[in-house]
Amino acid sequence: MNIFVNGFSKKNKLQKIDWIINNHFQSNKKAKKILFDYLNDDLSIQNLHDEFIENAISNFYLPFAVAPNFLINGKYYTIPMAIEESSVVAAASKAAKFWANLGGFKTKILGVEKVGQIHFFYNGSFRKLESFFKKIRKSLIIDLKPITSNMEKRGGGISSLELIDMNKKINHYYQIFVKFDTVDSMGANFINSCLEKITEIFKFYVEEKKFLNDDNEKIDFIMSILSNYTPNCVARASVSCKVEDLEKNNELKNTKFVESFINAVKISKVDPFRAVTHNKGIMNGIDSVVIATGNDFRSVEASIHAYASRKGSYSGLSNAYIVDDSFYFDLTIPISIGTVGGLTKLHPLVNWAHNLLGYPNARELMQITAAAGLAQNFAAIKSLVTTGIQKGHMKMHLINILNQLGAGRKQKNEAIEHFKTKIVTYKKREGISK
Ligand code: HMG
Repeated sequence: MNIFVNGFSKKNKLQKIDWIINNHFQSNKKAKKILFDYLNDDLSIQNLHDEFIENAISNFYLPFAVAPNFLINGKYYTIPMAIEESSVVAAASKAAKFWANLGGFKTKILGVEKVGQIHFFYNGSFRKLESFFKKIRKSLIIDLKPITSNMEKRGGGISSLELIDMNKKINHYYQIFVKFDTVDSMGANFINSCLEKITEIFKFYVEEKKFLNDDNEKIDFIMSILSNYTPNCVARASVSCKVEDLEKNNELKNTKFVESFINAVKISKVDPFRAVTHNKGIMNGIDSVVIATGNDFRSVEASIHAYASRKGSYSGLSNAYIVDDSFYFDLTIPISIGTVGGLTKLHPLVNWAHNLLGYPNARELMQITAAAGLAQNFAAIKSLVTTGIQKGHMKMHLINILNQLGAGRKQKNEAIEHFKTKIVTYKKREGISK
């Protein structure tokens, strides 16, 4: 059905639900019940959720889990994870436990720089623009103090403000490229407020100082916005151990584990088809922590994938190698996330997740997230080069298959017992009778 609606946003929630059910579901009562089943009985929680986004008509739940035993820089964490895919949390937990026995994860921050850009067109000479920019640069920063002073008190603020000549890409195109430190906040609102103010002040000086003294000259401001690409806001996580310690491990005995593992990582470096799947495994860990801690997973995803392409072709983000008799495995990712602002205090479960982690600052959370990504990557590759992924993944996914078939508790227990020693396949699930 092709339906246009005017003023939908002005309807209240019940009116919106009725409109949808009547127009898209032929007034079906079951369809309406599903929306209501997912509403929270506690009105204060429901109202909060309704106000997070626009046109909210229900809640969309993701399972919220924890992965224990993450030993990171000598401290144990139980990591919160929100994700719908089975075997991710088990894999992270298993890898965390595995590495806890071998010294755990070592992590560090390589940079915390965020970026914002003001894009504009100017049809005059670059030299003239550059000299004008140099003259007003200091005043721009001083005039911005009402917005930046609180951030400066916390140790952040604007770290650089540059004019960039982009004429080689598009005729007459320039940028004001601004670097920020937003301390514990992800900083999107702060950065965008600063950029819009800089544009306003810049325009003011253009007028006041009569910069455009020729009638044909003009400046067109196109947009002022943060960049979600943060190649200098980066965390690294690594694990290492003696090769013989891996080979001693029961599960890995008699496999060419280390060699195959390193080759699997090498393949991700040269083949984008494999690299995307390799990085998807890493994102299983990263996204689920980012979501559980109330951060913006779309910006994290976009930035990490751009970073994976920074050398000209898309490649795997982790590295594995041997030096002397030790195995090293590491992951470096750009990750702009916050522990204040946004949903961090507002969403009770997100706040709970931060509490579980001991209310980390942004740097600590960046490192925890990188460790979760590395753990996930380790678990996936370990399975891929030994048993294959389906054995463990389908063991965890079995319960979803049984639910889809409408199995009861007794049948579920029987099936779980039955598949303890067998790989779950579609064919076998057909064999289960109710
Ligand atoms: P297992 O050896 O059968 O597990 O592994 P186990 O029963 O022996 O238990 C060992 C530990 O694993 C447990 O220790 C837990 O830490 C964890 P314990 O708690 O007993 O002290 N564990 C669990 N944690 C919570 N709930 C559970 C559970 N079961 C085990 N039910 C496992 C099974 C799935 C962990 C293993 O086979 C594995 O790590 N597989 C990899 C799975 C994976 O990577 N899944 C991601 C989805 S696949 C994908 O999207 C990415 C991919 O395409 C990426 C790529 O190609 O690179 C693969």
